[in-house]
Amino acid sequence: MDIWHIRGGNRLDGICFVQGSKNASLPILAASIISPAQSQLRNVPQLRDIDAALRILRHLGCTAEQRDNDVYINSRGLNKSTIPHDLMLEMRSSVIFMGALIARCGEARLSPPGGCQLGKRPIDLHLSALRQMGCEIEESGGEILCRASSLKGTDIVLPFPSVGATENIMLAATAAAGETVIHGAAREPEIAALQEYMRGLGWAVSGAGTDTVVISGGSPAASVDYRILSDRIVAATFACAAAAAGGSVELRGVEPEQFSTVLHFLKQAGCDIITEKRSVWLRSSGKLRAVGAFETEPYPGFPTDAQPVLMAALLKAVGRTVIKENIFENRFRQVPELCRLGADITVAGNRAEIWGVDSLHGTVLTSTDLRGGAAMIVAGLCADGCTEIYDDGHVKRGYERLDVRLRSLGADIYLDG
Ligand code: UD1
Repeated sequence: MDIWHIRGGNRLDGICFVQGSKNASLPILAASIISPAQSQLRNVPQLRDIDAALRILRHLGCTAEQRDNDVYINSRGLNKSTIPHDLMLEMRSSVIFMGALIARCGEARLSPPGGCQLGKRPIDLHLSALRQMGCEIEESGGEILCRASSLKGTDIVLPFPSVGATENIMLAATAAAGETVIHGAAREPEIAALQEYMRGLGWAVSGAGTDTVVISGGSPAASVDYRILSDRIVAATFACAAAAAGGSVELRGVEPEQFSTVLHFLKQAGCDIITEKRSVWLRSSGKLRAVGAFETEPYPGFPTDAQPVLMAALLKAVGRTVIKENIFENRFRQVPELCRLGADITVAGNRAEIWGVDSLHGTVLTSTDLRGGAAMIVAGLCADGCTEIYDDGHVKRGYERLDVRLRSLGADIYLDG
């Protein structure tokens, strides 16, 4: 069990180098097996979920190791198409190995993936698309068995722009005869990153970043060297932390337009924000105004992953903020814990109403999930006294050395565990 100890009240000042993106790294790690090749990936964060993906790669017969923020994979030795239940349960992104294994082996045997408990999180869109491409899929006894003697390129219409389904289709489509066109694709920057990596591996992919992605074969390369983009949700977390605690922080190595929706509301709350090509400078007095209302949407809308941390930043903001969560049915799990700090939040269905309070008081909390845990840390930084957060490893799934990075900005925080 990790225990986060925070004494609130310190300003955050200084420069923060933002880590590489978890959600870009994980599908790219899965993609590294679509053809026999060597991949060198740079700027990969050191996280529990990345370890889990590397363990899956080694289980499949690849060599895969991480040295600092570089990952080296050789997928020539891949000799299995089955992923055991315990490895699947470690994280949600294990499901992206389904499309990759189908592309490489013509089959995949796995179980439904784990990850944060944010609601039902079905994979029906993934399975339906793979079936349309010619994959036979049996679901029995908690196992998913996919077989594809031949895959055909086709037009797939996604009724919702699922990030994971878009990624799975892109990978499986590399083994399809003819062109695969995904209509209604997710437009997240992580999809564009996957396209760029796949192009480096020799595949013809275009359209990522728009709602139509086209995959039309290619000739596999022997090796690829790819640098992972910065993590827009981690950047948003630091921005929310500095906004709430007060201070002056420069986020370096980031792509400001990728979390501009979060910056927009922080500006509205009263922060001074200057964006440059690869950096964001944020100054806050720590006394924020409520922002009225915001709702989560698929990219380029406000990201659901940043909702809990912006909520935490607004707990003391003067006035009322209403948040509508449109992506996950259970993404307010942090609320009862934030209320234990003295926050005034009422949840009704997928809406949360926050009335800013004068002060928060440190207490003992239990983290609920990755971003919920991060929200509790942001709240703890602006609570009076000590906050202790008992965390079953959730935060380390997505944040690299968060305690060290926050301490270097002046926070009084340390991690036991
Ligand atoms: C990815 C991100 C996650 C982020 C989410 C939404 C990674 C590793 N994870 O998750 O951090 O919160 O995008 O931005 O990149 N859905 C279905 N059927 C499906 C697939 C999805 O109903 O087959 C629903 C989900 O239950 C959810 C919504 O669609 O309500 C969004 O899911 P999706 O975009 O697929 O998210 P993930 O890829 O799981």
